[in-house]
Amino acid sequence: MPGAPGPKGLHIATFGCQMNQYDSARIAGLLAREGYAQMDQPQGADLIVINTCSVRERAEQKVYSYLGGLRRLKAENPGLLIGVGGCVAQQEGARLLKQVPHLDFVFGTGSLERLPQLVAEAQKGRRQAFTEPRPPDRPQALAPAPAPGLKAMLTVMRGCDNYCSYCVVPYVRGREQSRPVAEVLEEAHALVDAGVREITLLGQNVNSYCDPEDGRDFAGLLHLVAGIKDLWRIRFATSHPKDLGPALMEAMATEAKVMEQIHLPAQAGSNRILKAMGRGYSREDYLALAAELRRRVPGVALGGDFIVGFPGESEADFAQSLSLLDEVRYDFIYSFKYSDRPFTRASSLDGKLDEETKSRRLVTLQERQREIGRQMHRQLIGRVEEVLVEGPAQKGQGRLTGRSRAGRVVNFAGGPELVGRLVAVRVAEGKQSSLLGSLEQRERSEAS
Ligand code: 5AD
Ligand code: SF4
Repeated sequence: MPGAPGPKGLHIATFGCQMNQYDSARIAGLLAREGYAQMDQPQGADLIVINTCSVRERAEQKVYSYLGGLRRLKAENPGLLIGVGGCVAQQEGARLLKQVPHLDFVFGTGSLERLPQLVAEAQKGRRQAFTEPRPPDRPQALAPAPAPGLKAMLTVMRGCDNYCSYCVVPYVRGREQSRPVAEVLEEAHALVDAGVREITLLGQNVNSYCDPEDGRDFAGLLHLVAGIKDLWRIRFATSHPKDLGPALMEAMATEAKVMEQIHLPAQAGSNRILKAMGRGYSREDYLALAAELRRRVPGVALGGDFIVGFPGESEADFAQSLSLLDEVRYDFIYSFKYSDRPFTRASSLDGKLDEETKSRRLVTLQERQREIGRQMHRQLIGRVEEVLVEGPAQKGQGRLTGRSRAGRVVNFAGGPELVGRLVAVRVAEGKQSSLLGSLEQRERSEAS
């Protein structure tokens, strides 16, 4: 329609963790109120927001190279506004504006609700960085994501007080702050009313959740969320081993809606390294937790994070990480080469390892886990899994895809009418990162 102002185009580039994905959805919601419609591509956008991660050096480099790539777009369209939020924004603040001349504004991890104001002022030519430490964003100030799908994330706590020696998160995300139960429940109800059937509760350290008003713990929160009618599945991430107690295991064991899956980063298998990392548990503590989880929550899938090449990590220390994989038998792990981060204690430690050693250890660890993952998948052949059907499988062939209760990807042949339903699938084959099966029966999808 010539002459009629259409919606303005917004592109959000998201780097990093699920918390950032969640924040990006809120950013989209906030800016939708200002007349911005989301676009998949930066080309042609009126506003580009980059939600950044600084947990490892490479993640930070990706942000700078992405920003570099936008210089041309800005030259072609001087009206284009570019803003940077998230952890790099919090870490670098006004320095980013100095370093990147085509950047218009910077907003820190606690300043999401300032965004409309920053955009309005940037339109008037005011370049500014807002990174004041603030209380967590109030949900009423933040619109939920427009049109959530079958699955959604919900942040229940932010920040981290653990100060693991390698980690920048406490510096860029601030102190731990839990949202009140009532707020969490309100948001969960709104999601379910919009059609969401699976919610993942998020927090840097989700199991240290503590309601600021009545002190309710994470297990208590899970019980309440499980009471929401028409919500079928609850997952949560990430859990810290030192805060995993019997109440949470009990909630996992007794609440049918809480899925049998836990992401429980060990980071290393050697007590010497765990101590230097400041993790607050020993290898033996961790193994005892994993064994207890397996005993109390049958079929539970464990996920982990590992860092290889922490300063001073010897071959013998590294061998302990490998043997931890063998003993725990994770479904999947995320693994990283140690990377120096600003402000952290580890960055000033002696005994830094060269890139080659770190790369070699990473490959060895990942190969060992790949084999374990294959074995774990093979053990599932013949079993019937409850699957929430999400849509057509990526590799097509008329297959559908969804996830089992333990979070494994399951592909099977079936018609589009099954999308959004809970079905039973018998596993026939275990692939590297997914299971292949056949439809056994359609289950009741009205579980309340
Ligand atoms: N170097 C490498 N990996 C890191 N992680 C956090 N900080 C660093 C670092 N400095 C990893 C941890 C954490 C995950 C989110 O990122 O494994 O669990
Ligand atoms: Fe970082 Fe440790 Fe906090 Fe996790 S628990 S966010 S690794 S400081």
